[in-house]
Amino acid sequence: MNRVFSGVQPTGNLHLGNYLGAIKNWVAMQATHDCLYCIVDLHAITVPQDPAALRAATREVTAGLLASGIDPKVSIVFNQSQVKGHAALAWILNCLTPLGWLNRMTQFKEKAGKARDQAGLGLYAYPVLMAADILLYKATHVPVGEDQKQHLELARDIAGAFNRQSGVEVFPLPEPMILGPATRVMSLRDGTKKMSKSDTSDYSRINLTDDASTIALKIRKAKTDSEPTVTYEPKRRPEAANLIDIFAALSGETAEAVTRRFSDSGFSAFKNALGELAVEKLGPLAAEMRRLMQHQDYIDEVLRAGGERAQHIAERNLAEVENLVGLLKP
Ligand code: TYM
Repeated sequence: MNRVFSGVQPTGNLHLGNYLGAIKNWVAMQATHDCLYCIVDLHAITVPQDPAALRAATREVTAGLLASGIDPKVSIVFNQSQVKGHAALAWILNCLTPLGWLNRMTQFKEKAGKARDQAGLGLYAYPVLMAADILLYKATHVPVGEDQKQHLELARDIAGAFNRQSGVEVFPLPEPMILGPATRVMSLRDGTKKMSKSDTSDYSRINLTDDASTIALKIRKAKTDSEPTVTYEPKRRPEAANLIDIFAALSGETAEAVTRRFSDSGFSAFKNALGELAVEKLGPLAAEMRRLMQHQDYIDEVLRAGGERAQHIAERNLAEVENLVGLLKP
């Protein structure tokens, strides 16, 4: 059986990187797999959050998934904290994960920065909770952007360690799926930094809530080199390559095909075409997201029903694991 699990944090705006690197692939996988898509609020609280803003962001991200084409009647859409098994399994996995494995995680090093001793234990254990998310449902495939690759390798290692310890193939080793031409969308201001929710410049990213004129303006202002032609050279021309990748992901072509198509027309014509394409593809999505956000009761009902369906699967798997570990259920 093929089961897909993936997650997104409810922190700040969903942006084009989340959409092209992950959500667009999630939508496509609904046709071929059983899918669970999770708004990971327990991961969000590994750094300080304002409670009201966190709740609002959980609803907003849910609206973004639905507006993008995730069908809650087909896929299971829910927020993580509703299913207590995520935290329960994470504890069990914490107990068998060597510190040495976690010490290698580059995202912790980036997020904790120099004040490592001040960082919370939750931030350190973040990748183990991620493994628990996936393994709680015995997911086989995990569609993510490139930045999650190291975490998924750890999840595979943890699954293998648990299987070895218990002498049973309880967990399938989850397969990362890093798909499409935009697995690592870069900032529009700096082609060496990934597009991210936490960048202080709003011009560095296209938010899924941006209206048409904002999208067009951000692409017009996107930093590029001064060469007038369209060539695809990620090392030498990272900003140009990033825009070509974005174009390809939005139009469903390869980067090579896009480059060929614009090879005679020059960079500013390419940028105009990208602006138009982005408005065409993302404009309706933003409008639908704004519409859904007026219907909080509907969003809450989607999450509640999704949580119930997720709980059903989680319950069985957690009971199996607890039994293997020797936890008594009198
Ligand atoms: P998060 O919330 O940072 O991002 C959600 C998804 O978007 C992808 N992504 C990008 N892809 C391409 N270019 C970018 N600039 C870009 N920025 C983000 C991410 O790779 C991700 O797929 N730890 C995860 C959430 C998580 C999870 C899980 C994922 C929790 N549990 C279990 C998979 C399975 C995260 O913070 O994603």
